[in-house]
Parts: sequence; C-alpha cells; structure tokens
Amino acid sequence: MTKRRILVTAALPYANGHIHIGHLVEYIQTDIWVRFQKLRGHQCLFVCADDTHGTAIMMRARQEGRSEEALIAEMSQAHQADFAKFQVAFDNYGSTNSESNRKFCHEIWEAQRKAGRVVEAEVTRPFDEQEGIFLADRFVKGTCPRCKSPDQYGDNCDKCGCTYTPDELIDPVSTLSGTTPTMKATTQLFIQIEPLHDFLTEWTQCGQHLQDEVANYLKGHFLGDKLRDWDVSRPKPYFGFEIPDSTDNCWYVWFDAPIGYIGSTHDWCQKHGEQTEDWWKNPDTEIHHFIGKDITYFHTLFWPAMLKTAGFTLPTKVHIHGFLTVDGEKMSKSKGTFIKASTFGNHIDPTFLRYYFSSKLGSRLDDLDLSFQDFIDKVNSDLVGKVVNIASRAAKFISGSELCDSYPADEGLFEQAAAEGEQIASYYENCDYSQAIRLIMAQADRANKYVEDKQPWVLRKDPEKATELREVCSVALNLFRQIVIYLSPVLPEIAQKTGELLNDPITSWEQSQTPITGNKVEAYQHMLKRVEEKSIEIMVEESKAENSAEAPAAGSQWNDSAEPLEAEPLAEECSIEDFVKVDLRVARIIEANHVEGADKLLQLTLSLGGDATRNVFAGIKSAYAPEDLIGRLVVCVANLKPRKMRFGMSEGMVAAAGAGGKEIFLLNPDDGAKPGHRVH
Ligand code: 2FM
Ligand code: ZN
Repeated sequence: MTKRRILVTAALPYANGHIHIGHLVEYIQTDIWVRFQKLRGHQCLFVCADDTHGTAIMMRARQEGRSEEALIAEMSQAHQADFAKFQVAFDNYGSTNSESNRKFCHEIWEAQRKAGRVVEAEVTRPFDEQEGIFLADRFVKGTCPRCKSPDQYGDNCDKCGCTYTPDELIDPVSTLSGTTPTMKATTQLFIQIEPLHDFLTEWTQCGQHLQDEVANYLKGHFLGDKLRDWDVSRPKPYFGFEIPDSTDNCWYVWFDAPIGYIGSTHDWCQKHGEQTEDWWKNPDTEIHHFIGKDITYFHTLFWPAMLKTAGFTLPTKVHIHGFLTVDGEKMSKSKGTFIKASTFGNHIDPTFLRYYFSSKLGSRLDDLDLSFQDFIDKVNSDLVGKVVNIASRAAKFISGSELCDSYPADEGLFEQAAAEGEQIASYYENCDYSQAIRLIMAQADRANKYVEDKQPWVLRKDPEKATELREVCSVALNLFRQIVIYLSPVLPEIAQKTGELLNDPITSWEQSQTPITGNKVEAYQHMLKRVEEKSIEIMVEESKAENSAEAPAAGSQWNDSAEPLEAEPLAEECSIEDFVKVDLRVARIIEANHVEGADKLLQLTLSLGGDATRNVFAGIKSAYAPEDLIGRLVVCVANLKPRKMRFGMSEGMVAAAGAGGKEIFLLNPDDGAKPGHRVH
C-alpha cells in the first residue's frame, strides 16, 4: 500500500465558549478518522486551534475587566483539557491569534491584492457611540422593515425570512449598550469571488471534494447567481489582526480563522523540522477538513477561492456532518441537555460517547440523535455486554500463563473476521462508521457464541481439560484482540489496555490479520463499568443548574453596561481560605442617626440577633435618610477589627455597591434571612 501524506483539520472552536457535546460529534468523528489513517500506516497530521478574534471576544473581555489575551489563554486551556478527556489527540493545537497565523494572513492577503481581487467601498455602518464601536449585524436589533416583527437581528428576520441591512431596521438598538446606533461612514474592503465562479463550479461539482448533498446545495443556492464580494474588513476597535495596507481596519474573524489551519500546521512544522510548504503547497499532500453544515459556505466557496488565488493546495475533501439533537430535540439549556464536555466527562466515561457517536455516524449530513435510553442500552449491551465480556470471561482462566504456541482451530472465526478487514477499513475511510461498527459487532456476537459454546468455566473444573481450556482462551482472546484492533480508532483507551493485557501493543491495522501466540496474559483488569441511568439524571440536573447560574452573555437581553467593571476592575484573585476569614452576617438596623460634624456618615446600630449588636459608622448619608433605614436587613462584616474614629468606635461595615454620592445601594438579603445568618 502506498503511504499517503494526509493533513486533517477540525473546525476551530470559538474562544468565547466551552466545548459541549454538540461540538464533540465533530471532534470525535475527526479523531477517529485520523487514528484510522495512522493505524493504516499513513503519515497523518491532525491540527486545530482556538478561533480567537472578533467582537464577541472583545466585548466579553471588556465585560470581565481583563485583556482579550488573558481570556483566550484561559479558554484554550479549558478546550484542550476537554479534548484530552475525550481522547481527541491533535498533533498541534494553536491559536488564530499567533504570529504564525498573522504571517499567513499577510501572505494570502498580499496574493489577493496582487491578483486584483480586493476592492474598497465607502459604506455606512451602525455605530454604538457609548461603546465606541461599529456594530456587527448580530449586535443590532430592531423591528423588521417588512413584517414589522419586533426584536429581529440586523441582517435577517426570523419571522418572515427577509434579509436587509441594519440601517433598514425600524427603531434599531445596540444590544451592547441599549442605545440607538448612529450610522457612520467607514471604508470597507471586499474580496471578489465572482472572478473564480467557473473554477468554483468545477471544484464543487466534480464529485470529488464534497458530498453530493453539499454540491447540490451550493449549485442550487449560490452558483446559479453572480457570487457576491466578501466583506473581509472590520473597522477598529476590533480584536483581530490589523490589515497592513488599511490600518484603520482589521481582518474579519472569518478571514483569519481558516488561515489558522495553516498557522497551526506551521507551528507543528517548526517543532518537527518540517516545511509548511510540503503540507500546503504540495499536490502529493491530501488536505481533509471536517466541519459542521452551518459553516459550509465559508469552507466550500470563500476558502477554496482564497487558496486558489494564493497558490496553496486546495482541499482534497471537505467532510460535512449534521447537528446533534438530544432525545429528538435541539439541545436545551433549560432542559439540561446542553451539556458541556467537562460535565459529561465528570459523570460518564468518554469512551461510551465515542462509541455511541460512531455507531450512529454515517457519511451523509443527517442530524445525529443522542437518545439517553438508547445510549444506555447500546453502550451497555455492545461494549460491556459483548466486547469487553469476551476478555473478561476468557482472560481470568489463563492470566499469568501464555497463549498457545500455535493458534488453535477456531471454526474459521479469526479468518472470517480478518477477511472483513478491508470492508471495515473502507467504511472508516468513507466516514461510514455506523457500518463499520455493525460488522464489528457481528464479529463480537460470533466470538461470544464461541465462548458460550465452549464454556471455559466448565472446562476449568476438569484437570484433564487443561489443554482445551488454554486453547479456548487463546482463541477467545485473539478474537477479542482482533475486534479491539478494528475498534481502536474509536476506543483508544480500550486498545491501550488490551495491548497491556496481551503484551502486544496495538499499533497497526495489519495486526488484525494474524493471531498472536505464546504471549503472556496479564491479570485481567476491569476495562469498563456499565452506565447507570442515575449518572445521566445527575448530569442533566447539573447541566440545568450550570446553565441557570451562567451570567447572561454580552449582547443578551439585559444589555448591562460594561462601565462599572471598567471603572473598578476585579481585584487580585483570593483563595477560599482568604474569603472565609471575612465573616459576613445578616444584620438588622435597629437604630440610625446623623453624626454631628460628619457630612458623609450615619451612625448605625446593627443587631445580629439576641443581644449581639454592632456600632457602625457608614458612609451612606448621601443616599439614605436615617428614618428609612430602621428595621431593614443588611449584610455586615461582623468580624472587622474595631476602628477608632473621630466620633467613636466603628465595629464593622455594612455592604453596599455603587459609585458613591446618590449612587449607593445597600445589599439586602432575600426574605427569610434572619439576623445572625452567615453569608457564604
Ligand atoms: O463555527 C465556528 O465555531 C468557527 N469558530 C469555526 C471556524 S473553522 C475555521 F474556519 F477556522
Ligand atoms: Zn420580518
């Protein structure tokens, strides 16, 4: 077999959110494909990166009072931890905010300029005067100019489906500040795609690079008309790379995101003494992109157009998958089915999700449903009940000794499964994992029937049958190993454990064709524990709680301004030990008086219940009259060291928020709290 050189990418996850089980469909699908190619002996490189630029990241960083770099560094760590947990093994994980990415953005941009593809136009865009930024379409809302539905985004109406520009909205509002945007002129840069129309028609319709459904969709929706210029610049301030020959602008996040595939490859090459050109400017290298159907347009029209103009290798194939539904519905935060990868991994062995997804993934764009009951039934029955069961029933009778020195007669089972190897491989190659799994599970059924028929647990009782017992176990363990080799792209951890059990690491697909003999069998260690319904219930409840606790994101219905946090950025991190030193208590104001000679202070007597009181001087006079305070509950710092003030001892503090002056807001506990309750 000739050794192929294959570069594989999965879509770069946005740095403004955590990985969830919907994302995992793609990363698991791609990782399986990569592991399969490596197992077949091909040179395969799997790169990914965080997609870091854009308004959403900029606004979130502002809101959280930290730099974009700090935010994206934290998210990159979190994403990589999630991927590792789900055994998604990238060869390189980069960032679109890297110097390597910037370098390739420059190169590709330069090429577009040279080819005369860049055009400029003066356009007016909505501008948020309060935030000082131009607003992307999704940050403007208003009433649809056609059907008059309120609360529609700046580009299209989800009620009547019409498209428009943000200035056509009736009563537009910035979702960032709640103010009415003004229309401001700016120079926008566009890349012309139309000159590549013939090329794109040929490339998309030739039947080699795209699934048929995708080719037909492009033909029906885009290729029949003139291809519109692509708007690739965003006026500053914008978190992105400055455009070298238009320095008031940055590249739009979708310009530099796919170039991140090249940047990440370059990072890997630097670490491994290879040349990026060998991967990206080499007709002998295959390039495979895996993406979800929502980003088809970028990867099948803009991206090939960019690459073509800049002289890079075009994708060999763009593999597109559908969305994940849970119990037949869209993932839902309120129902707890919008599950973060980390939450899933805390309750259920990720191996099960890898198996479940692969048992349902085909080569088409159909959505994939995670039905919890089906999940429990399938993984328990297939993985625990069939696959691992073969080893657990056979290994214990032979562990500590060796497999037979020559492979015993096995009713042709090994050979039959070996002969199916190429069919299984071709299913993997075509991303038809469900078909591969179907064949492999039939092999597991046959192996289980063999063990059932031979009953090693009975043979074991008769010392005269020791040889037969060893033969039966040698066969069963070889059939098990063969199945695990076929499943190893899906179940890398089980493959690893099987290699250890039989002292023969699984490293190549070829190993499925020959039984092993004479190997020492180690003591059998449990490989998988059944999934319990309870774990799913707990996970769903936890997801519900996480989602309801999440602060509304930037651009949400609340439109909270970033100003308070900017005015007073977050203090240095403190530990829980530091925090618990401060004893916050619910207290009732039982007395409140003006203080003679003090223009800011009120004197408060706080009751902590029973006889416990505190005398406190609080700087709240500008906002509260003493008579309005009597009887109300507040939160006080009850163990603050007493301070001697000009007017007497102050024995604590009351908690209040706000900028000062009229803007002081005492915190008051919800109904039911009692003086003396500790605030945790
Ligand atoms: O849709 C997304 O989540 C994008 N962050 C994917 C980018 S893929 C590539 F183009 F970078
Ligand atoms: Zn409408």
